Amino acid sequence: MTMQYFGPTKLDAALIPEIARKWGTPVYLHDQAYIENSCDQLLNMPNAYGLHVRYAMKANSDRTVLRVVTNKGLDLDCSSINEAARAFAAGIPYGRMMLTTQEVPAGEERTELEEMIRAGLKYNVCSMTQFQLIADFAKSINLDLSIRVHPGATGGGESATRDTGSEYSCFGVHLNDVPKVKDMADKLGLRFTQVHVHIGSGGDPEKWRENIDRELGFVRTYFPDATTVSFGGGLKVARMPGEKQADIASLGAYAKQRIEEFKAVTGRELQMEIEPGTFVVANSGHIVTRIIDKKLTNELNFLIVDGGMELLTRPLLYGSEHPIAIVRQDGTLLSSEYDQTPTASLKSFGVVGRCCESGDSVRLDNDGNIVPVMIAEPEIGDFVVIGGTGAYSESMSPENYNSHRKPGAVMKTRSGELVLIRKKQSREQIVQNELDVKL
Ligand SMILES: Cc1ncc(COP(=O)(O)O)c(C=O)c1O
Repeated sequence: MTMQYFGPTKLDAALIPEIARKWGTPVYLHDQAYIENSCDQLLNMPNAYGLHVRYAMKANSDRTVLRVVTNKGLDLDCSSINEAARAFAAGIPYGRMMLTTQEVPAGEERTELEEMIRAGLKYNVCSMTQFQLIADFAKSINLDLSIRVHPGATGGGESATRDTGSEYSCFGVHLNDVPKVKDMADKLGLRFTQVHVHIGSGGDPEKWRENIDRELGFVRTYFPDATTVSFGGGLKVARMPGEKQADIASLGAYAKQRIEEFKAVTGRELQMEIEPGTFVVANSGHIVTRIIDKKLTNELNFLIVDGGMELLTRPLLYGSEHPIAIVRQDGTLLSSEYDQTPTASLKSFGVVGRCCESGDSVRLDNDGNIVPVMIAEPEIGDFVVIGGTGAYSESMSPENYNSHRKPGAVMKTRSGELVLIRKKQSREQIVQNELDVKL
């Protein structure tokens, strides 16, 4: 039987040459039905007294993706006022956004921030300095605030670089400083109506449970005005076979139970908030690349593809793994790591991109050495399709390195239509902000 469909979106291999013919390679590919299904799963998470889901738009900030997600009823978490402005330009009102940022902008951007807040943007205080910078303005318009707390306990990241709870992480008001900030707020008559903790990305669900207990503990101790408790994002997806996806129903059931117990002790009904990015979009995405060269050496066989670290930097940044599928030019699926098929006649290849960088590979070990991928042997001109790339790929890449142009993006719609949602960058766009200075 010929294999045809692969990956979590059950992508039809025959579409790959069609996409390449229409829009060239490399190209990002998304799947609307998959994104909507993720949203449904999240919105159906068990909860005690209400659930509010925000999509962490840093995962993928494309306007079409934002519209798909917000049309499903999710609101947004923005990590800069630029993200907020971008979402607003996509037609999403500020009242559906929260800002969780490392900086309170100054000058013109400060004025913009205040306008956004007046228009409904929720502000999540992430440090004592931030509180001091925002307090007078908040007081002047009687603004209720959210506070991001650094829990002072190792969080749930897949790697140290994605752990936002440990002592090496600088995010949020440290638990030790919470009484001081709370005291300052009390003196000004400002209220924290939401408490927020994000412990990291893609870690052990057990850590997520621990965080629920810890967070409810300090909500009880320090935040009598809180009506919402946010447990952040970080819900793990299984990109590779063998990885275990977070069980949303079970995590929700745990949170529900704990929030009900909280009510039994305090009489307070807390609304639950979550703000996943990865879970919403990661497995909806593929990058379609074409094999442009092949080198068989005594040490390692290489496939050189026309898109690598400039499209997907996670392997280099975190050592993350993404499943590879091999599709022939006629649309036949040769092998799919995600589906672990076929299991025989596989050969090992280092899959590398076209940047002049030794670490430009889809699979690297912790020392930065290329890890070969077991795949069916393809020919030059065939396609390497990289899975699990819907999150932190387009939005997080060192694009334009080696002056490669940011590729276009295509959405497979709910009805199966392929629609271009972003054009490939032009050469002019790469240099458009450079000035012709005569020295
Ligand atoms: C504050 C905050 N919330 C939510 C997220 C989303 O995390 P994830 O994509 O792991 O769900 C992040 C990711 O860095 C974050 O920093």
